Parts: sequence; C-alpha cells; structure tokens
Amino acid sequence: MKILVTGGAGFIGSHVVRLLLESGYQVVVLDNLSHGFRQNVDKRAKLIVGDIRDSRKTKEALKGIDAVIHMAGLIVVPESVADPVKYYDNNVLGAVNLLECMRDVGCRKIIFSSSACVYGTPDKLPIKEDAAVHPDNPYGATKAAIEVYLQTYHQIFNFDTIILRYFNPYGPGKMGKPITHAIPNFIKATLAKKPIPLYWKGEQIRDFIYIDDLARAHIDVLKLSGFNIFNIGTEKGIKVKDIVEEIFKIVGFRVPIADLGKRPGDVPANYASSAKLKKAVGWKAKVSLPEGLKRTIEYYKQNR
Ligand SMILES: NC(=O)c1ccc[n+]([C@@H]2O[C@H](COP(=O)([O-])OP(=O)(O)OC[C@H]3O[C@@H](n4cnc5c(N)ncnc54)[C@H](O)[C@@H]3O)[C@@H](O)[C@H]2O)c1
Repeated sequence: MKILVTGGAGFIGSHVVRLLLESGYQVVVLDNLSHGFRQNVDKRAKLIVGDIRDSRKTKEALKGIDAVIHMAGLIVVPESVADPVKYYDNNVLGAVNLLECMRDVGCRKIIFSSSACVYGTPDKLPIKEDAAVHPDNPYGATKAAIEVYLQTYHQIFNFDTIILRYFNPYGPGKMGKPITHAIPNFIKATLAKKPIPLYWKGEQIRDFIYIDDLARAHIDVLKLSGFNIFNIGTEKGIKVKDIVEEIFKIVGFRVPIADLGKRPGDVPANYASSAKLKKAVGWKAKVSLPEGLKRTIEYYKQNR
C-alpha cells in the first residue's frame, strides 16, 4: 500500500512515516514546511513541499495513493485564540480541499489526527468517544469542524474514515516553534538548569502518550473501514507536577519552579478511555512514563 502523510515533516508525522516504512508501506509526504523540517522526513519517503490548500500540489501528491494520514495543521492553541481565521483557513479549508482532491482522484480512505481538545472540559472521566464535543478554543473547533466534514464525506461519498483523538503526545523529535508542550519545555529548562515554567502549580491532570505508541495506532487502524472515532491515550491521568518530579528523579538533580499562576481555558483534568481502540484492533499503550521520559531526556541531551 502507498500512503500519503500530510504534515509528515512535523513532530508526530515524522514518527508515523518512519513506522510506516519499517512496516513495508511506501510513503509520500506533503508538507509546506511552515512548522516541519526537511530533515525530519525519512530518506526512504518521497517529500513533496506544498500546501494542502493548493489543489495542484495535493493532487500530485495523491497519485497512486491508497490511503491518506492527514496530520497537516496549525497546532498552537494561544495563536488560534489570537487569530481564529488563520486557523480556520489553514486547518478547515485545508482539510476540505484535501477531501475534494481525494474525491477527484478516487482515493477514499483517510485517517485524521484529531485531538482531545474537541472535548473541552469533560463532563466525566475517563473520557469516552461518545462524550459531548464542545471545544474550549478555536484550534479545538477546527478539529471538531473537520470531524463533521469527515462524517459527511463518509455519508455521501462513502469515504472510509478513522478519526484518532490524541491525548498528550510526547517523545524525542524536532518540533516547530513556538513549543507549547509541557514535557519538552520542562526537560529543556531542567537541562539548562533554569526554572521550570508551571501553570496551576502543576495540579492539572493529563494523559501523556509516548510517541511510538501513538504512531503504532496509525498502522493498526489502516485495516479498518467505515466510520470510526478512537481516543489514543494511556488511560492513566497524571498530575503535571508529578511529571516534573519524575524528570528530576531521572536527571538526578532539581531546579526551581517558576509559578505562572492559572491559565484561562486550561482544562483541570482529562484522560482517555482507549478501550474502544483496544477492542477494535488490540492496540494499547506499552511504553511506561518513566521509560518514555528517559528516552525523551536522552534526545534533548544529545540535541541541545
Ligand atoms: N502535538 C500534540 O500535542 C497534538 C495533540 C493532538 C493532536 N495533534 C495533531 O497532530 C498533528 C501533528 O501535530 P504535530 O505535533 O506533529 O505538529 P507539527 O507542527 O510538528 O506538524 C504539523 C505539520 O503540518 C505542516 N503543515 C501545517 N499546515 C500545513 C498546510 N496548510 N499544508 C501543508 N503542511 C502543513 C507543518 O509544516 C508541520 O510539519 C496535527 O494535526 C495536530 O493538530 C497534535
């Protein structure tokens, strides 16, 4: 099978591309390199530098493709609050254009990188896929809007669709700026012996999923058809301040904490039920938090 990965030069995409190649798939990457890097793309994949809003480039990338893993998108929540139109244009319009190009060339299978953001502040924990969708920010709204388009394309054009709602991915790998993810920022501050920036005194509960486990889910769901939505998380909620303690334990020293106070719109707690994905394809998270953190710290030590 030949797979197109949009956004394959990004942090998560580069891991998915590597795993696809290791599993015997042919891979084409379409990325405009706005936040991704040429060197993130495995040499065995074909990189087409282009934008998902550009139909000519997108159709060129879709030649001979059996399925699309759609990861391209802007991902910075505060930026989406400041400029919702930019996020609508890039993410929603981009996705609809990609779907239209797929329809045009006759490719009808898509796996979409959605986010736990679609749930906003959840009513119940752990979060199941049938929980209400009410995103707290425009980034999450773009993900929810794309999910609705995917539902429609499944209904009227018979697309096979797998929506993966990621919880908090982390792991080794180069990320585009600004980096707003907690774990890389904590590790970088610790290694530089600078204070760790912590909102809410780290009382928020999150579900941190190691990048290899997350990437593997994309391969596992490729065999599915119809319309599917799955959470991808470890099912274990952990306080952000406990992540900081675990980092201190691994590096063997402590640095001060910079208390940044409360952040508006920050969800107090979210963690996944991934039982549905386990039942469908047998997937479950394998890498423990201490092991994942160790590997991530090692990466940042070597790539300061
Ligand atoms: N990192 C997370 O915490 C997280 C959580 C949930 C969901 N996701 C989703 O996973 C996907 C990948 O995220 P990531 O962390 O690897 O981000 P990333 O920024 O590293 O990767 C996104 C890639 O998409 C490319 N891109 C953006 N707009 C494009 C466009 N219009 N045309 C072509 N390429 C474009 C960027 O250059 C980048 O390489 C995104 O869709 C994101 O919303 C990420």
